[in-house]
Amino acid sequence: MSMILLTGASGFIGRALAARLLADGHRLRLALRSPPPKDLPSVGVFHFTGLDGGTDWSGALAGIETVVHCAGRAHIMKETAADPLGEFRRCNVDGSARLAGQAARADVRRFVFVSTAKVWGEQTPPGQPFTVDTVPAPADPYAVSKLEAERAVAASGADSGMETVIVRPPLVYGPGVKANFLRLMQWIARGRPIPLVDTGSRRSLVARDNLVDLLARCVNHPLAANQILPVSDGEDLPMPALLRQLGEALGKPARTIRAPAWLLKGGARLLGRQAMADRLCASLQIDIGHTRRLLDWSPPLSIGEALAQTAADFLAHSQG
Ligand SMILES: NC(=O)c1ccc[n+]([C@@H]2O[C@H](COP(=O)([O-])OP(=O)(O)OC[C@H]3O[C@@H](n4cnc5c(N)ncnc54)[C@H](OP(=O)(O)O)[C@@H]3O)[C@@H](O)[C@H]2O)c1
Repeated sequence: MSMILLTGASGFIGRALAARLLADGHRLRLALRSPPPKDLPSVGVFHFTGLDGGTDWSGALAGIETVVHCAGRAHIMKETAADPLGEFRRCNVDGSARLAGQAARADVRRFVFVSTAKVWGEQTPPGQPFTVDTVPAPADPYAVSKLEAERAVAASGADSGMETVIVRPPLVYGPGVKANFLRLMQWIARGRPIPLVDTGSRRSLVARDNLVDLLARCVNHPLAANQILPVSDGEDLPMPALLRQLGEALGKPARTIRAPAWLLKGGARLLGRQAMADRLCASLQIDIGHTRRLLDWSPPLSIGEALAQTAADFLAHSQG
């Protein structure tokens, strides 16, 4: 069992990961910039003011064997920064490079970085999922910053011998999910119609518990060293089937109405929601064969089980 420094433990993924790593018997130190949320386990905490190129991590890294770096600037629904790429770079690139560099100097054995599938791009042609060998083509400032962060982390490892593991998840959902997935559940639960273009598109998603299971394996598995690991639920549903399963889990059948692509995209453009319409129409699939074979790993939850858990939590909180 390892002594682990975990960043981002106040967030959606990090909170679940902290609980899992403790349950696995690891010892944890959490790096937090805000007071620990009440439901976080009471373990050692390193307080810092924010991720950037100036953070002094020396007080956090003593005795640490593994860093799991989950903190990052993400989910910015309404960007207010004058220079979004600069803001993403300051936190995600400079902050990750600084942490990885200091971790390498402190003889940390392994650095696990939670990146994103968006480094590959925003959509895949039919039948051609992203694979570990796909050339990255990030399309927005967030994805650009995560790719640059991956490269900075890998460079710190190459210079020092510190092992690095880069995990690229697509959209993560699970109990307590926020942003677009939450809006989708609210929309279905209110019985509102969802315009849908049946283009046959499929999207890879990953349940938080499946991602956390993989990250827990990445802490120790010898073959994870210096790898880039695609992750998903391993089962990509077409959008109508996803909505149907989610509706069933919510006890409220999803009301989909068919719309031609030009109408959906045109309407969305007028509402400033072009990216969302593109997502509803296009595929984004990830081939996780490399991760499965290398680590002998399979997602423990089926997509049906994970959607049911997510919907049950949503219903419990929206009724309570
Ligand atoms: N959720 C997804 O769908 C998804 C998909 C792919 C990749 N990811 C990646 O997974 C990681 C975790 O995502 P999440 O969904 O758990 O996000 P989240 O709920 O927004 O949590 C983000 C975490 O990062 C911390 N953080 C953000 N900005 C920071 C800053 N400037 N300085 C220090 N800490 C900062 C937050 O701390 P505070 O609580 O103090 O704000 C929080 O602990 C991110 O790196 C994200 O890029 C997420």
